[in-house]
Amino acid sequence: MFKSEVYIKRRNRLRNMVSSGLILITGNQESSMNYPANTYHFRQDSNFLYYFGMDQPDLAGVLDVDEDRDIIFGNDVTMDDIIWMGPQPLMKDRASEAGVQYTEPLDKINEYISDALSNHRKIHILPPYRGETLIQLEKLFGVHHDEIRKFISEELIKAVVKMRSVKDEYEINEIEKAVDIAYEMHTTAMKMAQPGVVEREIAGVIEGISLSLGGPVSFPVILSIDGQTLHNHYHGNVLKEGRMMVTDAGAETTMHYASDITRTVPVGGKFNQKQKDIYEIVLKANVNVIESIKPGILYRDMHLLAAKTIAGGLKSLGLMKGDVEEAVKLGAHALFFPHGLGHMMGLDVHDMEGLGENYVGYDDQIKRSDQFGLAFLRLARKLETGFVLTDEPGIYFIPALIDQWRETGKFKDFINYDKIKSFMDIGGIRIEDDILVTESGCRVLGKPIPKTVDEIETIMTQ
Ligand code: GLY
Ligand code: MN
Ligand code: MN
Repeated sequence: MFKSEVYIKRRNRLRNMVSSGLILITGNQESSMNYPANTYHFRQDSNFLYYFGMDQPDLAGVLDVDEDRDIIFGNDVTMDDIIWMGPQPLMKDRASEAGVQYTEPLDKINEYISDALSNHRKIHILPPYRGETLIQLEKLFGVHHDEIRKFISEELIKAVVKMRSVKDEYEINEIEKAVDIAYEMHTTAMKMAQPGVVEREIAGVIEGISLSLGGPVSFPVILSIDGQTLHNHYHGNVLKEGRMMVTDAGAETTMHYASDITRTVPVGGKFNQKQKDIYEIVLKANVNVIESIKPGILYRDMHLLAAKTIAGGLKSLGLMKGDVEEAVKLGAHALFFPHGLGHMMGLDVHDMEGLGENYVGYDDQIKRSDQFGLAFLRLARKLETGFVLTDEPGIYFIPALIDQWRETGKFKDFINYDKIKSFMDIGGIRIEDDILVTESGCRVLGKPIPKTVDEIETIMTQ
């Protein structure tokens, strides 16, 4: 946990940002995997971690805006618990580490909420995303779970997004630790990417590195020679010379801050000319964005900068044609770059996504586009100092999408369909870094992970 003052300050600020009533933030419960007692690895709710820092199941926190005080609801362990889990700190000691003076047994929360409801007090909650929480809220509010959404508070969501979007020095330090773990994961994957190796051998090793240096991976490892499938979790292919291996993987620190890094390398360690040509375009898109990020610019404009770099590069290889600006304006480049440039990062790898992507990445000034490609951009709004985000352009050769567009003649004035065939073996190439927006520009977080053609060839053939 951070020092108690960090949590006290955060809660004071949140109480001041919400007009009246009380804020209920539920912690997560254990969740069963294949029978009740065999649970998934416990992961605390990120909002609960942000405001209370307490990392155990079955807790709920209330911030009473009207009375200016906070309460933790949770039970002390019983002898049965001690037998299985060992001695545990008392709830009041745990709460005091988070700077909370008042604690109550967990079942008291029913009374607390029903009193608040009968006194017509406003109760603010955040959107639940687990069945267990929904059932808990159903019981607390005495309504069917379909009705819970009326308690979800836009005022609270906006306040939490505003606070969590700007990272403080402690959080940046944690994210940087997570990127340093990712350095070990990715450089290990690069060295292992030799012909004959099965993808899962590498995926398993890098997941183990995350566990051994911090916590579990921040999302299921994406590692494949079929990088044209954007989130490929199948790890059964045998690596072959001539293919590229995409590894999109990150770690969580013990404090649950995430990293999210992608590197793409040629199996065997040497780029052939076609691989190099496409790789250099993606790298240029990634680097152009890093050179342009600063507070005050729209991240949508960074996405479009990456799109233009990609379209321009593909035109120089003869895969695209026509006017680059026009091609990007109409969305023709999205055949090769069909996803967004990036997203916020922090306690969640897609930070705060559970609160609603449009609250996190868009605002009153900038609305989501409905154009294929641009519509998938998670972060479009104006950047501020202290934002942490990803810069992850890519070029993909997706057979089903190419066939569909070719058959319908889509954007035939911008795409040389005949030329694409000889590039299909590349699959996909993505390069992803984690970036802090600073007062004067930005900083790529963590120890630099090999990224240029030379750096990758050097580490892979050492
Ligand atoms: N790791 C998934 C993503 O890059 O967004
Ligand atoms: Mn990623
Ligand atoms: Mn990402």
